[in-house]
Amino acid sequence: MNYLGGISRKLKSAIEEMTTAFERSLNAARSRERMKGEAYAAKLATETEIFKGQEDINALPEIFHYWSNKYLRPMLEEFGVSNPDQFFAKYLHESALSCAIADPAFISIGAGNCDTEIRVAQLMKRAGLTRFVIECLEMNPHLLLRGRQMAAQEGVAEHIDFVEGDFNDWKGKRRYAGIMANQSLHHVLNLESLFDAVKRSLHPKGYFVISDMIGRNGHQRWPEALAEVHRFWRELPAGYRYNVQLKRHEELYENWDCSAEGFEGVRAQDIVPQLLKRFHFHVYIGFANVIDVFIDRAFGHHFKADGEWDRDFVDRVHAFDEEALRNGKLTPTHMMAVLTTRPCALLYSRGLTPENSVRDPS
Ligand SMILES: C[S@@+](CC[C@H](N)C(=O)[O-])C[C@H]1O[C@@H](n2cnc3c(N)ncnc32)[C@H](O)[C@@H]1O
Repeated sequence: MNYLGGISRKLKSAIEEMTTAFERSLNAARSRERMKGEAYAAKLATETEIFKGQEDINALPEIFHYWSNKYLRPMLEEFGVSNPDQFFAKYLHESALSCAIADPAFISIGAGNCDTEIRVAQLMKRAGLTRFVIECLEMNPHLLLRGRQMAAQEGVAEHIDFVEGDFNDWKGKRRYAGIMANQSLHHVLNLESLFDAVKRSLHPKGYFVISDMIGRNGHQRWPEALAEVHRFWRELPAGYRYNVQLKRHEELYENWDCSAEGFEGVRAQDIVPQLLKRFHFHVYIGFANVIDVFIDRAFGHHFKADGEWDRDFVDRVHAFDEEALRNGKLTPTHMMAVLTTRPCALLYSRGLTPENSVRDPS
C-alpha cells in the first residue's frame, strides 16, 4: 500500500512537473506571439531610437577598463588573445581555415555601428586573410550608415557588407564560414528561430563566435546575487548611489528590469540553454555577476579608476564573484564562447562549464 502510495506520489509530482514545464513553454510561446504585431513594432521603434543617439554603443566607465584589464584580460590570455576583438578575429580566421574556403563569407548578427566588425576585418587582414567579407546584419539603418562611412575611412570597405534586417526572423541565404554575435543575443526575442537559422547556415566545420550577457532577463539579479549586491552597496558613499542612466538616487540598489522599454536583456537567461540544445561548445569563458552593477554605465562613472578605495572595492567584489562562481553559489552573467555544430573538445576557463553556468529559473 505504502509502496503504491509512493509510486502514485512520485507519478503525481512528475505529472505536475511536466505540466508546469509545459505551461511555462506555452506561456513563453504566447508572450512571443503577443509581442508580435503592433507591440513588437513599437518596441523595435524604441530600440532604434535608443541606439540612434549613441555614437559609441560600447562606451563604458573608466572603472570598467580597470576591472577588465586586471581580471578579464588574463582569462582571455589563456586562449592567446587580449581583448574581445582579437577573440573574434582569431576564431573567425581559424573557422575559415578549417572550412578551407578561399573566399570565406562571415555574418555578424546585430552588428550595430559595425565598429567591431571593422576592427576584426583589419585584424584578419593583418593575419593574412585576404579575400573575405563580413556581412553586418542590423535593423537600425542609422547605425548601418555610420558603419558604411567608418569602413570606408578605415580602408576595409571591400570586406564589409551591410544588411538591413530583423534577426528575429532571419533566414541565412548562403553558407557562412563563421558567424559572430557581439553583445546582440541578449536583444533577441526569437532565440529558437535565430539559432536554428545559424545552425543551418553555418558550414559544418564553421564556428559560431559569441560575446554576450547571459544573466537573468532584463539584466536583473537573481535573488542570491541581489542579496550580495545589497551587502556591498551599503559600503558605497552616498554620491555613488546615483543612477546616471535612470537619473535617480537609489538608497538601496533597485533591481531594474532593463527590458521594460526596448529589448535589453529580453531573454538573456535563455541564451545558454538554447545554445546547449543545438550546438557544442568548443571554448567557454564565463565570468562576472555582482561586479556588473558597480562597473557598468548606471553607477560605474562614479568610481575613480585610480582611487585607492575604489580599486580596493572593485577588487573585493571581483574576488567575491570568482569564489561564488567556482563554488556554484552564483552563475556568470557574461560569456565569451566558440560553438560548433559537431561534437568537439571543450576548453573552458577556471573550471566553469556552460552547463554549470545555467541558473534554473524555478
Ligand atoms: C547592444 S547592441 C550591440 C551592437 C554591436 N554588436 C556592438 O557590439 O556594438 C544590440 C544591437 O542589436 C540591434 N537589434 C536590436 N533588435 C534587432 C533586431 N530585431 N534585428 C536586428 N538587429 C537588432 C540593435 O539595433 C543594436 O545595434
